[in-house]
Amino acid sequence: MTAPFVPPHPPRGERPVPVWRGFFGERARTAVYGWSERAFRERYMRRNVLGFRVHIPLDPDVVQHVLLDNASNYAKPDIIKKLLAPAIGEGLLTSDAGLWREQRRIVAANFAPAAVDALVPKFGEVARASLERWTPGSRNMAREATRATMQVISNTLFSGDARLTSEAAMAHIAAALEGVSEARLQVMLGLPRMPWTARGWKAQRGQAYLRGTLETVVRERLPDGGPDDFLGRLIRGLGERFAPEQAAELAADNAMTFYLAGHETTANALSWTLFLLSEQPDLQDRVADEAAAALAQGEGADLPDRLPLMRMVLEESLRLYPPAPRFDRQAVEADRLGGEEVRPGDIVSIWPWLLHRHKDLWERPDEFDPERFSPDRRAGRHRFQYIPFGGGPRLCVGARFATAEALAILAQWLSRWRFEPEPGREVRVHGMVTLRPAGGLPLRLSRRG
Ligand code: HEM
Repeated sequence: MTAPFVPPHPPRGERPVPVWRGFFGERARTAVYGWSERAFRERYMRRNVLGFRVHIPLDPDVVQHVLLDNASNYAKPDIIKKLLAPAIGEGLLTSDAGLWREQRRIVAANFAPAAVDALVPKFGEVARASLERWTPGSRNMAREATRATMQVISNTLFSGDARLTSEAAMAHIAAALEGVSEARLQVMLGLPRMPWTARGWKAQRGQAYLRGTLETVVRERLPDGGPDDFLGRLIRGLGERFAPEQAAELAADNAMTFYLAGHETTANALSWTLFLLSEQPDLQDRVADEAAAALAQGEGADLPDRLPLMRMVLEESLRLYPPAPRFDRQAVEADRLGGEEVRPGDIVSIWPWLLHRHKDLWERPDEFDPERFSPDRRAGRHRFQYIPFGGGPRLCVGARFATAEALAILAQWLSRWRFEPEPGREVRVHGMVTLRPAGGLPLRLSRRG
């Protein structure tokens, strides 16, 4: 029996932290900072945040009610739309009702199981290209993960457009994410969006650069969409249903949505999985052996099916470090959540971070245990207690894509290289929108075999 491995999480006090503390220091920059032990035992919490009533349901039945059973009553919040509008406008992630449905229908075929499975060799190709650059020694694997997932999105959705994978684009994305907490406060207070700090300026510049790049990429493809790739089909699909000006705007909104949502989360999933394996060399060896054997049988569409151990490790990694640790809704009409009254306009915050580590829902929740996802042990679990990709009609459209991509990339990387921690380096979670390892993830690489 090996000793249980409890990977790091932010410190937790016994007593709830006052709401105002959430706007200062690390709590303002890292969504999962500042939760007390109690938050992982409660079934429901309510907070008042700058005049907003915020409900946090932690009962999977109630989460299911919000995301699935009564989903049409829970829209994307106005403040989130305002916050994200300059970047992703009214694209799939931030639209509701009819506009959302139309757009989801237009993109759905690109993410159908057969379409995603056909991309597996392309995922492997990108991962092999990274291997050619690596040498033994220290390497920031968070950066490698971002570079690889960006390349995957560019290759699979945008015919490999090089403007989407530049070093400048990478730096601007990181800067744009860092500015979210300042912008969020401005939006919540109803203030004009004016940068207050150097971080805010860099974020605004980063966002403008990225939006400008994607608008140019789209404009060059108008009016007929050009090649038969995701972007081409998106432009043609929108062109058939919307007036030319709106169609062009929505094409840019969605190009930006898929560019950002399609790589940053998966990059974090890769980073956290590598981190967890770097801390457990024996398990890493077993996963690497499985990967080598699976690759020896071919690198085609069915590769992910030959990686059952790696899949369980990935699922456990998404439980412990959900790349999207929270997402929100806003009640359209009055409702009840469990016994609690919800008024029109109330915010309902869904927290994978809390649900995934909840003491009533999981045994030894902070412990790393991939066997939780073995067929026997997963049977009977409530499907809304584990929601790294959300749930209901707004379930992540890229869930299958992300899973196949992560498995195909990890198989290439782990079968050829061993990853060890940098001695003395502490890993911390960081991020307001997505959970990243603070300051990157330097690991020591050595060749296998
Ligand atoms: C490990 C990787 C990923 C994670 C953890 C993740 C997580 C999520 C979550 C939690 C949501 C639901 C948000 C909500 O309900 O408010 C979501 C939605 C979405 N995701 Fe992902 N995602 C990942 C990868 C991807 C990829 C690879 C793509 C595209 C290629 C993508 C595109 C989207 C889009 C467009 C939506 C909005 C869907 C809609 O509202 O209809 N995601 N994602």
